[in-house]
Amino acid sequence: MGQPTEADVLNALRPIVDPDLGQSIVDLGFIKGLEIEGGRVSFQIELTTPACPVKAEFERAARDAVSALPDVTDVEVTMTSSTRTAQRAAPPEILTGVRNVIAVASGKGGVGKSTIAVNLALGLKESGATVGLLDADIYGPSIPLMLNVHGQPEITPERKIRPMEAYGLRVMSIGFVAGDDAPVIWRGPLVHGIIGQFLGDVDWGELDYLVIDLPPGTGDAALTICQDAPLSGAVIVTTPQEVALIDARKGLKMFQRVNVPVLGIVENMSYFECPGCHEQHAIFGKGGGARDSEELGVDLLAQVPFEPDVVRAGDQGTPTVASAPDSPAGRVFKELAGTIARKLAVLGAEAPPMADASIEWVNTPR
Ligand SMILES: Nc1ncnc2c1ncn2[C@@H]1O[C@H](COP(=O)(O)OP(=O)(O)O)[C@@H](O)[C@H]1O
Ligand SMILES: [Mg+2]
Repeated sequence: MGQPTEADVLNALRPIVDPDLGQSIVDLGFIKGLEIEGGRVSFQIELTTPACPVKAEFERAARDAVSALPDVTDVEVTMTSSTRTAQRAAPPEILTGVRNVIAVASGKGGVGKSTIAVNLALGLKESGATVGLLDADIYGPSIPLMLNVHGQPEITPERKIRPMEAYGLRVMSIGFVAGDDAPVIWRGPLVHGIIGQFLGDVDWGELDYLVIDLPPGTGDAALTICQDAPLSGAVIVTTPQEVALIDARKGLKMFQRVNVPVLGIVENMSYFECPGCHEQHAIFGKGGGARDSEELGVDLLAQVPFEPDVVRAGDQGTPTVASAPDSPAGRVFKELAGTIARKLAVLGAEAPPMADASIEWVNTPR
């Protein structure tokens, strides 16, 4: 009995196209470790993010395609991932082990920026990624409360700050240092110093994603971080109210100024789903987010319903994605994480995976 050749297997896999990158998974170099022993074929499909929402479909399509070849008796597909880095240029020694840095911004406070940041981080983590969350809102650090994580972070022997752990996330908050009960007002050089220290002195280790809860607005505090951190992309949180558009536009301008791609807008408290009849009521007005995103030329990434449980989850330190993943808001948060992971994978497709990049650098002849 014969056995398939490597070319047979690759040709069978070639019609499988990554929907985001618009290319064959073979040509994208996703197929690794191909082994053929008689009728037994095994290989890995290396995705660009563990948060890939089409993981299961890829696996099934690949198995079906190879199983259909003559002489194949057994197919073993392993799904792996090597998160591409969509990181932008920035001071080289900052956040070196972090593949993607996502800023969550808003024009003003109280729109749900921190709620989105926490649940986005958890959504990314659920999909198997290693995720950090940096609470950089110096005016009102709320992550310690939202994740019920308190205390003083340890200092490592290398004199770095070790992030705290909560819900499988690595967490650092300005609140751990300054206390999170009273809002802190730091200005000018102090803001710069403390944020710079957070960016450079926290031992994040290797992360697929770092989510940053920015200070609200487009003032010095937010701008400083956007300039100092190697941001891969930004998410702007708004509510449906008319005034939110003006704020969102300012946010967009800020990111354009520092050359950070805006991944899109999240409209929070978009509607209230009546628990009895499941009808959706637009309590704060309708279509604001869609109108904003169209007018600003960016995507509307998600519309998050207003849910009383989201408030409770935040107050009790049991975030929605962890405590009520199948609630309407929980589902939207998880979808949002998938959408963002895909967008970053597309941005990162032009950049090589991080490990390869350093090898290339070492081998470059002078
Ligand atoms: N989708 C939502 N449904 C109901 N309440 C929400 C929702 N998103 C946020 N909240 C609540 O609104 C308040 C402000 O949210 P927060 O995330 O702290 O905003 P910000 O960080 O923008 O100041 C909090 O009490 C939070 O629980
Ligand atoms: Mg906040």
